[in-house]
Amino acid sequence: MQLEDIRDLVREDLQALDRTILDRLASDVVLVNQVANYIIAGGGKRLRPLLVVLGARACGYEGGRHVEAAAIVEFIHTATLLHDDVVDSSELRRGKDTANSVFGNEASVLVGDFLYSRAFQMITQVGRDRVLETLANATNVIAEGEVLQLMNCGDPDTTEERYLDVIRRKTAMLFEAGTRIAAILADQPKEIEDALAEYGQRLGVAFQLVDDVLDYRGDADEMGKNMGDDLAEGKPTLPLIYTMHNGDDGVRGVIRKAIENGGDGVDVDVEQITAAIGASGGLDYAYEMAEKEAAAAVEALSVLPDTPFRTALESLTRIAVERSS
Ligand code: IPE
Ligand code: IPE
Ligand code: MG
Ligand code: MG
Repeated sequence: MQLEDIRDLVREDLQALDRTILDRLASDVVLVNQVANYIIAGGGKRLRPLLVVLGARACGYEGGRHVEAAAIVEFIHTATLLHDDVVDSSELRRGKDTANSVFGNEASVLVGDFLYSRAFQMITQVGRDRVLETLANATNVIAEGEVLQLMNCGDPDTTEERYLDVIRRKTAMLFEAGTRIAAILADQPKEIEDALAEYGQRLGVAFQLVDDVLDYRGDADEMGKNMGDDLAEGKPTLPLIYTMHNGDDGVRGVIRKAIENGGDGVDVDVEQITAAIGASGGLDYAYEMAEKEAAAAVEALSVLPDTPFRTALESLTRIAVERSS
């Protein structure tokens, strides 16, 4: 299935999602509305809420609370992006200047807090303890992931394992929480709940692996965000870690120094490093790992009944790996 077919399959749910998002965004504080609407109107792929909706439908859910749950997950995601762009000093997001560029770091951080706390107000409406537990845990783990990543920045001794620990927490955890709460809402047995959670976790890892490849070889116009941000920050992602250990002798020291100084330091040759990452197979290596995770995600779904919703979830793993935006 292509992304458009998948969206068609749950078109009414996605329309309800749009209405819920706009409705719940409202605040009587003008600047909150401005910043929140600015980033939400910027669009975004809405991949995480799509997973919640499809996951619930794949479990045969017939109620209406999955839409609220999907909106909650998108609010948490959006809050992390507001904070992340401040931490990463990023200037482009969803094809527009970042909120921090337009409104300043202070407004971005505070409206990020608004979105987090609004999400938790909404969880009380869903009224399921295990949904609350899952999302509270996920939010906490995401914060840990971002802090762990901060500790890795500038550290050339960051290992592949430490990198994977970061992306499981900062990215995969929210995918996992989204698919898990879908199963919880649908009152599924533990086996199904855990299978959907594993699917989300694996898909999230694949998604971030690809994101980190695209930071080196993507297209800024297609991605709607700038490339090269990771190197500029001295952020040791998998392509860089791989090339530091497996690239030519000459380039290893160059990468070490680039990570230590932040890649935009005076004597760092960004083009040389980018070319070396390609030549050493660092991008292929990360892609292959993403493909393995995607395959394992599909495998996890095998305990679910065979429905178009399950097929859609399966197709999303390929779309996540092949994406260019
Ligand atoms: C961006 O996520 C943050 C990462 C985990 C890489 P998305 O690529 O899903 O962002 P939007 O919501 O589509 O803008
Ligand atoms: C994504 O990390 C942020 C979170 C998952 C919290 P990145 O910093 O790699 O994502 P982009 O590239 O800014 O979207
Ligand atoms: Mg970032
Ligand atoms: Mg990135």
